[in-house]
Amino acid sequence: MKDHEITKTLVSEDEVKKTVQRLGAEITTHYGQLDKELIVIGLLRGSFIFMADLVRQIKIPLVVDFLTLSSYGDGTVSTGDVKVVMDLDSSIEDRDVLLVEDIVDTGRTFSKVIRMMGNRNPRSLKICTFLNKPEARVVDIKIDFCGVDIPNEFAVGYGLDYAQRYRNLPYVGVLNPG
Ligand code: IMP
Ligand code: MG
Repeated sequence: MKDHEITKTLVSEDEVKKTVQRLGAEITTHYGQLDKELIVIGLLRGSFIFMADLVRQIKIPLVVDFLTLSSYGDGTVSTGDVKVVMDLDSSIEDRDVLLVEDIVDTGRTFSKVIRMMGNRNPRSLKICTFLNKPEARVVDIKIDFCGVDIPNEFAVGYGLDYAQRYRNLPYVGVLNPG
């Protein structure tokens, strides 16, 4: 990976850390005491790094599960055509569920996931995203726990990829389109 491929930093390592701490505190406060553990569901693959950091900042009992969807192929434009590639391991019926995403862009993917998960009758369903691109929104979504708003540019790093690369960058940057 060459550094010159990243033209600017959108979220520095330090800001990543502070954002995750803030979100963990908000989530901890929001849920307080639950009868059963919170189910935290990460959407793979983009959310895996954020998810790993976030759950360590949530100070209540929880279990994790993952959902793999396919939508983008290797392109940079969301088609909104969402398929479940790997489903959850466990039932979410009558449970408190927190969905964790790397980024909400057009909102198409998440709106479908929310509908899909809502049909399984959880007790509650809340949304947490690390990044949000408000200018790109096509489908309206209520985000309960929101990390950082970014401009309408293609972001990579901290789990986000371009053609599966750059996920391991410890910060979020913009890729040089050339
Ligand atoms: P949406 O359906 O347009 O909201 O897109 C959701 C998915 O597209 C995210 O979960 C990401 O995987 C991917 N995505 C959207 N914007 C970006 C970006 O700027 N960089 C990397 N992936 C993105
Ligand atoms: Mg994703």
